[in-house]
Amino acid sequence: MTEAAERRKIMVVDDAPANLNFMHKMLQSKDYHVLTFPDGEKALNAASKNPPDLVFLDIKMPGMDGFEVCDRLKADAALKDIPVIFISALAETEHKVKAFAAGGVDYVTKPFQFEEVNARMETHLRLRGLQLELQALNDYKNHFLGMAAHDLRTPLAAIMLISESLVYQLSPSLTSDQSKFFDMMLASCKFMTGMINDLLDVSTIESGHININRQMVDITVPIIKSVEINRMFASPKNMSIAISCPDQLPLVFADADRIGQVIDNLLSNAIKYSQPGTDISLCLRHENDKVIVSVADQGPGIPENEQNKLFLAFGKTSVRPASEKERSTGLGLLIVKKIIEAHDGRIWFKSEPKKGTEFFFFLPSCHNWDIYCTRA
Ligand SMILES: Nc1ncnc2c1ncn2[C@@H]1O[C@H](COP(=O)(O)OP(=O)(O)O)[C@@H](O)[C@H]1O
Ligand SMILES: [Mg+2]
Repeated sequence: MTEAAERRKIMVVDDAPANLNFMHKMLQSKDYHVLTFPDGEKALNAASKNPPDLVFLDIKMPGMDGFEVCDRLKADAALKDIPVIFISALAETEHKVKAFAAGGVDYVTKPFQFEEVNARMETHLRLRGLQLELQALNDYKNHFLGMAAHDLRTPLAAIMLISESLVYQLSPSLTSDQSKFFDMMLASCKFMTGMINDLLDVSTIESGHININRQMVDITVPIIKSVEINRMFASPKNMSIAISCPDQLPLVFADADRIGQVIDNLLSNAIKYSQPGTDISLCLRHENDKVIVSVADQGPGIPENEQNKLFLAFGKTSVRPASEKERSTGLGLLIVKKIIEAHDGRIWFKSEPKKGTEFFFFLPSCHNWDIYCTRA
């Protein structure tokens, strides 16, 4: 018996004492730590206190049946990844399908040969071990990404500050080539700062620690602030950003800074991917229990066969920025989606090649309909 197997806890849930005794004896002979339970309620209680590595679950039991036990295990964040193998005398396909739909990883019909059950169990334990290893590696990657991004930000900020101060001090005597080089250097620093901030956001979001500080807010405030800032980037391209907003809009339970970040990303994309002289419109409206925000551009649109790349990490499409000066990392929309989802909202888009793209998101509005913000 392997060292790993000695440490593994196997839970068996079955209302028939003879079945429990048999599994107990056989699993113990393989050096597993065996926990047996005659009903689902007792098994769930024990699992929440001391999670097992794998569960064998009968279906027909008095009280809670096996499907419900499995549903409840899967609904508990701390227990949902424990592999569940159903063992049942029910041999019809419909029961097997229901068991897999409930989240079971395998289904064995009674009567069975223990060696076969053991082989199946060891496979699922191995897969679970690999899943845990992958999770640990992913956490390590996110931790490393976060640390690297964080540590790069400080020296980069110093380079930017010193360069800006040098440009200021030397500007009267700089040749046009020298000022062009300084401009290029500062533009690269700004791009790197943006990218580092995006990487930091991705690493915190992926590790599940996205920091959202929600309060009852009038979301027009961060939105208008973001529009005003982005108008400065749009005007050199001769682009306008129009806002339409009803006089009254309910408050939403949101992090105003994060909503500003979402609008910044959507507007900066609309500016970046559209040709000069085209227009952008941002629209806010209230529908049922939702506040819906949309950002529409008259840009190139996104080819249908590439639309599935949006919202993925580094999900760039063949649509490139309209000018070479503008850069792209493919991280912005992933961050936007995670922020909206952390607010219990949803984001989607409509895009038509050569006509433009419109992104929409909704945020749940305040349940108390008396709380409105009124604009003059
Ligand atoms: N408004 C838009 N119009 C056309 N293409 C877009 C638009 N917004 C996003 N895209 C496409 O989606 C990709 C992912 O966008 P995003 O995640 O914001 O990253 P980035 O802008 O840094 O590339 C972009 O590289 C671009 O190909
Ligand atoms: Mg972007």
